[in-house]
Amino acid sequence: MLIDYIWSMNIESKLGDIGTNIFSVMSGMARKYDAINLAQGFPNFDAPEALKALVRHYIDSGFNQYAPMLGIASLREAIAHKVDRLYQRKIRIDTEICITSGASEAIFTAILALVPKGSEVIVIEPCYDSYEPSIRLAGAKAISYALEGPDFEIDWQRLSDCISDKTSMIIVNTPHNPTGKILKPSDLEQLDTLTRNTSITILSDEVYEHLVFDGKKHLSLVGHDSLFERTIAVFSFGKTFHCTGWKVGYCIAPEAIMQEFIKVHQFNVFCVPHFIQHALADYLLQTGSYDGLSTFYQEKRDVFQDIMKKSRFKALQTEGSFFQIYDYSAISNQSDMEFSTWLTQTHGVACIPVSAFYQEAPDDRYVRFCFAKTEDTLRLAGNRLQEI
Ligand SMILES: Cc1ncc(COP(=O)(O)O)c(C=O)c1O
Repeated sequence: MLIDYIWSMNIESKLGDIGTNIFSVMSGMARKYDAINLAQGFPNFDAPEALKALVRHYIDSGFNQYAPMLGIASLREAIAHKVDRLYQRKIRIDTEICITSGASEAIFTAILALVPKGSEVIVIEPCYDSYEPSIRLAGAKAISYALEGPDFEIDWQRLSDCISDKTSMIIVNTPHNPTGKILKPSDLEQLDTLTRNTSITILSDEVYEHLVFDGKKHLSLVGHDSLFERTIAVFSFGKTFHCTGWKVGYCIAPEAIMQEFIKVHQFNVFCVPHFIQHALADYLLQTGSYDGLSTFYQEKRDVFQDIMKKSRFKALQTEGSFFQIYDYSAISNQSDMEFSTWLTQTHGVACIPVSAFYQEAPDDRYVRFCFAKTEDTLRLAGNRLQEI
């Protein structure tokens, strides 16, 4: 009887046109065809031993009940110390930081809390796939501004044409997934000029803040005096410390924005694992816990690019993140989805079609590879790709 009842229910889907995301699809395909998974953005090496030891220690010490809603004070203090050191801003730990269930929760919560129903949010595509569905669930509309390869530079004049009196938020992502581009000082100035004296908030996705290459510097919006007044910036310990499965991140915003964020956060997750927060608080203060990450990942990028030089794939510039876009037009004229499927099934290397990061994708021949892998894996994949 109960089963009959469930089957007869007519559920009106809130995200009717949205299926399984491309990362799960390509990872599933990689498993099925026993392919090397350079598709989904996660490291195939483990979190640091010292950090894992701290997690074990804090589980055994009994930190297994709810944590405070904003996160434990020592972790917020350690983050404030890092932000002061890297971005020269003194954050008030009681009103301007919240520990979240990964950057994903911070993004979702920020959009639900700050985007009014019926308003518009500008998303710069290609972009991370959670932005647009979150905007829709908030009852708002995503207005896409599409970047064009191979440079993927923001044309601020074109972007300003997307702003209307309904615009409530602009989402930026630096270093950028999937292009690996980073925002320059002139980008921040343009964004500031566009949004100053408006009620537009900025959601700044900075999950790859520690992965910037070739001596370049990550420019956090938190470090920009004027932009910070209207910004909520989100970060991810998963990306920083190779522990994506723990789903712990945080966000930083001025008090007025954070107050609204917390109202939603408290009913969304309330708090995140207590013992992990203690471990991260100690680990963040250890010398070198994040300082060497750019070099660590740059070496991986360079290993992969070196092998791929002997292939028919053409590398686009990547300045940060752990992604690299390749142009495969010298190999095939297939669509990027067809090509990614073929590559996974026939040559045993999984990637992500860049069109998946757009609402309306241009007809380009680009795929994204993730180089957050061991050198052996990168060499094995590179050798396979050279043969095509
Ligand atoms: C640009 C971007 N933002 C947010 C996230 C989500 O981060 P987390 O795993 O901490 O939720 C990802 C993960 O791939 C990402 O690439």
